[in-house]
Amino acid sequence: MTVRNIVILTGAGVSAESGVATFRGPGGLWEGHRVEDVCTPEALAHDPELVHRFYDERREKLAGVMPNAAHLALARLDREWSGGLLLVTQNVDDLHERAGSTRLLHMHGELKSALCAACGVRAAWEDSLPPETECPNCGTPALRPDIVFFGEMPYQMERIERALGEADLFVSIGTSGAVYPAAGFVQTARYHGAATLELNLDPSAGSLWFGESRMGPAGALVPIWIEEVLAGA
Ligand code: OAD
Repeated sequence: MTVRNIVILTGAGVSAESGVATFRGPGGLWEGHRVEDVCTPEALAHDPELVHRFYDERREKLAGVMPNAAHLALARLDREWSGGLLLVTQNVDDLHERAGSTRLLHMHGELKSALCAACGVRAAWEDSLPPETECPNCGTPALRPDIVFFGEMPYQMERIERALGEADLFVSIGTSGAVYPAAGFVQTARYHGAATLELNLDPSAGSLWFGESRMGPAGALVPIWIEEVLAGA
């Protein structure tokens, strides 16, 4: 099959070798917290100090991590691939853009962004974000971390669905396949006739849906796969 349009989904595994903790690490905890204690609207309402501080710490840590070979290879694909390409990341770190990817969207939000719960504006944010920070747009003290919590709608779903409908190849990298709607992208892509490939440390929850699965660290697997794609293999 001639490949022209590629959609890539990345998860926490792509940033693991940069030293960013995955979500379902040892004991199923994310940096020592249950995901539901820091990643739900209920948690934000119940303990805003804890939730804001948690994302402040994640944001601060970005300064100490660097893109790894997988991010850099994906950025190379972005530069050199003349066909359609959309890199959809579930990650809230900024390592894909720091590596140079531009055809990129963050479906679960971004650490370096704040969201106004009152007017919905999204503002670039570098510093700490205490609860009740005033929105630069409407002035309401309602800025929150721009993270898509469980039960909230991920960003740009229409654009993603359109790209999946046009994809010849769908590739999933470093994600457990535990969280929908992202976990269902492989089935959508297959339905529209795309070839499907998974690159992950171990088989994901949806492994059986993929036409091909390669197991290993993203920093090793992704550059090899991208070399193959650019060589037209
Ligand atoms: P997970 O932590 O659930 O899964 C990470 C996956 O990466 C696992 O399948 C690991 O085996 C794999 N992995 C770990 N190290 C790797 C490496 N070096 N190379 C390749 N693969 C590796 O993270 P996600 O699937 O990204 O949601 O989690 C999905 C969503 O759940 C997140 O976006 C987040 C979370 O709750 C929100 O924030 C809304």
